[in-house]
Amino acid sequence: MNYLDFLNARVSVRNFDSDYVIDASIIKEIVKNAANAPSSNNFQPWKVIAIVNKEKQAKLREFAFGQRQVETASVVFVIFGDLELYNVDKIMNFNLNKGIINLSDLESKSHRVQAYLKMHPEDASIEGLKFDLGLFSMNLMHAVRAFGYDSVPMRGVDFKSVMDYLNIPNHYEPMLLLPVGKASKAGNPHIRYELSEFFQIIT
Ligand SMILES: Cc1cc2nc3c(=O)[nH]c(=O)nc-3n(C[C@H](O)[C@H](O)[C@H](O)COP(=O)(O)O)c2cc1C
Repeated sequence: MNYLDFLNARVSVRNFDSDYVIDASIIKEIVKNAANAPSSNNFQPWKVIAIVNKEKQAKLREFAFGQRQVETASVVFVIFGDLELYNVDKIMNFNLNKGIINLSDLESKSHRVQAYLKMHPEDASIEGLKFDLGLFSMNLMHAVRAFGYDSVPMRGVDFKSVMDYLNIPNHYEPMLLLPVGKASKAGNPHIRYELSEFFQIIT
């Protein structure tokens, strides 16, 4: 399959083989690959929890208004954004340790990020998390498919109950639930507006 065919073949899948187990090592590989997503200033403000326990999935299904895929998936990713990761010192130290910047550049590089955040303060807020985590989540959906599985992004979820049930720290902002598994039934083909309705070229 060529790359464009691969991208276009992603559809939301809501029917999974409920007996299918995805090995923890594969789950980790999927998430590791997803983390190559872009984020503002490479802040990487994501936190991901993988639920692989049917009892817990059944409970999460209740918080998702009974949507079956939450229980039948092999793994349910709960995807969060973490505002504490919009931390200039942390990312600068990371860059320093990785040899991406030199000690002599530290101040000027830090100022550049500060200037960016002054121009776009919303990028270090919940708005930024939604943007960065949207990109991460899309990458995760493609990584899932690269490993032979399918998924459905979900926000039809009472996240407050999910947070309480899983005892998640308060500074994690819930973004998406992503049930992942072996498809037992294909998703629906894409139906989209015509290109002319949302795109134009200006010459
Ligand atoms: C923010 C968001 C929330 C969604 N919530 C749900 C959901 O709660 N349940 C569900 O079955 N699908 C959900 N979806 C999937 C959409 O219905 C689906 O992406 C859309 O209909 C397009 O279909 P496709 O993903 O097959 O291309 C959600 C998608 C997004 C991006």
